[in-house]
Amino acid sequence: MTRPYTPEPALPPPTAEALALSAQLSALIRAEIAAAGGALSFARYMELALYAPGLGYYSTGSHKFGARGDFITAPETSPLFARCLARQCQQVLAALGGGAILEFGAGSGVLAVELLLELERLNSLPTEYFILELSAELRARQQQLLAQRAAHLLDRAHWLDSLPVGGLHGVVLANEVLDAMPVQLFVHSAGALRERCIAWEEQGFVWRDVPAGAPLVQAVAALQAALPEPLPDGYCSEFNPALSGWVRSLAATLERGAALLIDYGYPRREYYLPERSAGTLMCHYRHRVHADPLILTGLQDITAHVDFSAVAAAGLAAGLDIAGYTTQAHFLLGSGLPELAAASDPENSAAHLAMTDQIKTLTLPGEMGERFKVLALTRGLEGLPLRGFALRDLRNRL
Ligand SMILES: C[S@@+](CC[C@H](N)C(=O)[O-])C[C@H]1O[C@@H](n2cnc3c(N)ncnc32)[C@H](O)[C@@H]1O
Repeated sequence: MTRPYTPEPALPPPTAEALALSAQLSALIRAEIAAAGGALSFARYMELALYAPGLGYYSTGSHKFGARGDFITAPETSPLFARCLARQCQQVLAALGGGAILEFGAGSGVLAVELLLELERLNSLPTEYFILELSAELRARQQQLLAQRAAHLLDRAHWLDSLPVGGLHGVVLANEVLDAMPVQLFVHSAGALRERCIAWEEQGFVWRDVPAGAPLVQAVAALQAALPEPLPDGYCSEFNPALSGWVRSLAATLERGAALLIDYGYPRREYYLPERSAGTLMCHYRHRVHADPLILTGLQDITAHVDFSAVAAAGLAAGLDIAGYTTQAHFLLGSGLPELAAASDPENSAAHLAMTDQIKTLTLPGEMGERFKVLALTRGLEGLPLRGFALRDLRNRL
């Protein structure tokens, strides 16, 4: 079955320039498919589609975030998100007697800007604000936004190429980063495990299932062992092969403090529900959500939900404590959202209404409130109940 790019009526057509970039990227991926003997792991396809230098979705100059882009994240939705997060950072930094912040995947840079400005207002600035960003293009945008909106704080910001080796005292933040990590796809087929790979036929990328290699077989066996019933035949889902290594390196960096990981996802038992038989892979293109990653290569975002049980287990194995797991709504409510909302002036009706709408988007169950979760991994903060997790503790679900 070939899948050339045939725009569905609902998907706006890309420009000729965008299509040319996509064709270049597709040629590069085709060369890798050929070198791999005809079938390439979906994880490698996703890595190239999102991060191939100069060609991948996050590496080109297209608008991704906000109304003119493809999707809106919480910090793009409202400064209230950063202002609440700042209050949680303030609590941790105070307990440590000061420290730094390290943000993974800072996107447009808006969270860094709003967070630094709010921490300045709270008189709790971090000593440094490190950003670890894979995309050179986004890094340039982040530098530009900080220079425009918080120039007086720019000397605290440092862009890193890799994690600082040991010794971070402070807070690590990752908002919608784990969902952008490449995943492998697996399918249960007639009692055997197969890996769903990518091939090229005539004019387009197609799916090709091949026998799963030993590491994927072991990984799926381990996740199945934690499920109440076996996954049914035909079941297709994802596994993030880089996740535990990523958490291990984070743990090696975090000497004392908290890592707050915010994303859409589930505990393992809810993730691998029998009825979620097509997995959680999603693509975002100009505010349309669909499930076909084989079209618009390099022009659309590709994501998978996060298995928070896997993140928590990797954190524990690396010596971190699970200090909290809750919904985004409860985290924001515990981190000062009610006070921030109460300070809004209803007489200024335009601003007040805009803020009310933003609060709804961030907290309502049908919006981002329940789908997004916050997980806190800590080291050396025993006895400090993190304020963002005070209202609802969901750790027993992990
Ligand atoms: C969906 S965007 C989220 C951006 C931003 N955090 C926000 O909430 O608006 C994903 C971001 O994660 C970055 N990213 C993905 N994997 C990463 C990794 N392993 N290390 C650092 N950044 C990563 C991408 O380049 C991109 O900036």
